[in-house]
Amino acid sequence: MTQQGAPFDSNAMTLTRFVLAEQKKFKHATGDLSQLLNCIQTAVKAVSSAVRKAGIAQLHGISGDTNVQGEEVKKLDVLANELFVNMLQSSYTTCLLVSEENQNVIEIDADKRGKYIVCFDPLDGSSNIDCLVSIGSIFSIYRKISESLPTIQDALQPGNRMVAAGYALYGSATAMVVSLGNGVNGFTYDPSIGEFILTDVNMQVPKQGKIYSINEGYQYLWDDSIKKYIEAKKDPAKGKPYGARYVGSMVADVHRTIKYGGIFLYPATSQSPNGKLRLLYEGNPMAFIIEQAGGKASTGKQRILDVVPDSIHQRTPVFLGSANDVDEVLSYISN
Ligand code: AHM
Ligand code: MG
Repeated sequence: MTQQGAPFDSNAMTLTRFVLAEQKKFKHATGDLSQLLNCIQTAVKAVSSAVRKAGIAQLHGISGDTNVQGEEVKKLDVLANELFVNMLQSSYTTCLLVSEENQNVIEIDADKRGKYIVCFDPLDGSSNIDCLVSIGSIFSIYRKISESLPTIQDALQPGNRMVAAGYALYGSATAMVVSLGNGVNGFTYDPSIGEFILTDVNMQVPKQGKIYSINEGYQYLWDDSIKKYIEAKKDPAKGKPYGARYVGSMVADVHRTIKYGGIFLYPATSQSPNGKLRLLYEGNPMAFIIEQAGGKASTGKQRILDVVPDSIHQRTPVFLGSANDVDEVLSYISN
């Protein structure tokens, strides 16, 4: 007798199983990183559920701070931050947290303290939240370097000391893309079993793409080198013009860049000399993933991962994607 419906995979590689298998490759691993990643995964599942319900809330005309019962409805970005902070705090694996939503570093109470520092943007793409366009969460993980109590220097490590990074994309499906410094793997959420399933093994950014991704509304605020580079993508001396794609959610624009190739740019403008994106929880984790997938990530002057931060919310210009495309924009910048 054959079973009805889609075949059921009785041996699926879930994200939890994948992380455990990675842990087992290291004889001295304590399991703390696996526990931490599981807690992040739970936060992502909860954020994903809240994001999916937000559309229903709009359908029923629930807006502002209260629902029809007069109950308080938390804004999604506030809720996502609470979910991340609570899950990370209770993971017993972290000592410092840096969130886009909190002005200061969050210190974990002594009885819950572990050795990891997590920098995260709980819900990125704020301008897309209320119109149901893809948004995401981004995180990076470091090991404490101070001998005793954690200090601000533990949170200000350059990206090249990162242990792991990842992002969640709340798009047409929910996906998690993760790197433990050994390549990049993508997992898609299967709501029927409540698990992320490995769907993109060893993701690789194509060497060269056909898409550029930048907020072109700021063209008149760009440096001449960026104007000339984008002009050359639209009106090339030979070959076809590049296509333009810009969601305005970094996670979605970077995910597409990994899958299809091309370049994502958020350069400096005459009004923001370091661009808009934040180094610790936007530029660095994405640079780590892009490099782990064979692409390149630069500030225009240096590798993003080599920037030594001096404050937790500092900004950085971002040029990332296919190696050939990033090399090309850098040749315009240096000339
Ligand atoms: P946010 O943290 O307030 O959401 O801002 C970050 C977002 C990125 O996801 C995206 O790449 C960028 O801002 C878009 O900015 P702009 O609207 O200036 O193009
Ligand atoms: Mg953000």
